[in-house]
Amino acid sequence: MDLKPILLKAESDFNNAVSALNINEVKAKYLGKKSFLGELMQKMKDFTPEERKEYGKLANDFKVALEVLYEKALKRVNDMEIEKRLTENKLDITLPGLNFNQGTIHPLTKITREIEDLFLALGYEIKEGPEVEIDEYNFEKLNLPKNHPARDMHDSFYIDAHRLLRTHTSPVQVRTMLESQSNELKIICPGKTYRRDLDDATHSHQFMQIEGLVIGPNINMANLKGTLDLLAKTIFGQDREIRLRPSYFPFTEPSVELDVSCQCQKQGCPICKYTGFIEILGAGIVNKKVFAMCGLDPEKVQGFAFGLGVERIAMLKYKMNNLRHFYTNDLRFLKQFKGGL
Ligand code: PHE
Repeated sequence: MDLKPILLKAESDFNNAVSALNINEVKAKYLGKKSFLGELMQKMKDFTPEERKEYGKLANDFKVALEVLYEKALKRVNDMEIEKRLTENKLDITLPGLNFNQGTIHPLTKITREIEDLFLALGYEIKEGPEVEIDEYNFEKLNLPKNHPARDMHDSFYIDAHRLLRTHTSPVQVRTMLESQSNELKIICPGKTYRRDLDDATHSHQFMQIEGLVIGPNINMANLKGTLDLLAKTIFGQDREIRLRPSYFPFTEPSVELDVSCQCQKQGCPICKYTGFIEILGAGIVNKKVFAMCGLDPEKVQGFAFGLGVERIAMLKYKMNNLRHFYTNDLRFLKQFKGGL
């Protein structure tokens, strides 16, 4: 039995197949039940043992040869398929990528983070608290009892008789003292605050503050002055000077107002209203009454506190004349503040 011609025909059939489907047809033709090989296998049981031995080997070699042809053809069309897909969906990896619109850090966030960074480096902790605050923490424990005239300065949004939108972040300091009962603390309290102001170029009913509190043994006015000097120079530049003026806050005694020398090098200009200095924050030595109301022994601890308005600092630093720019989300304004932390 000469199987060579069948093998040659099978080889050419497999070579002419151009798809997996074609190949399976050719496979059925030569390896299927109804193929020459299939029928030969069927007949095997009728052969004598000698014949079976001879034809068995022949049929097996034939089958292996056909399977090799099949595998080769299958690989060839699979490769062709991959090649085709690669050329059809050509991806040019040298094309420029999509341009995503990247936002910028809001100037108020930028200033806040710069100030936070300074105080973190000085070993302070950042503390936060609720924006809806109780009267007791916003006023009473800060030595502003009910009907105290200084409450007038904090035009407040009351929610009910006991709760209001905090008018400063000082209540976070009250909370921290009450909670920690520690005689040593260094904290800053950034956050949103609210006052019943009519919105205009320099007032907003909602604004941001950063307040600071340091308590410990022998904390004094010199510590406060040194800290504020560093703060002013960090924000506005090393060439700036500071000046303390007496002031009044119920929670500090004595109290001061901090001025920083103007960018005009004290020559006088419209920004400083020709005084050479600009007021930037309030501060003072913590009133003993506040310590007592927060559960600390006023004879054992001293401390200083300060509070600044982030918008005011940002307006001075970026030479802005209208506070509303911070809140109106005009991209032409916001995009000017590239970079930052
Ligand atoms: N809490 C004050 C305010 O909002 C600022 C301040 C804080 C003043 C700490 C002195 C000491 O007006």
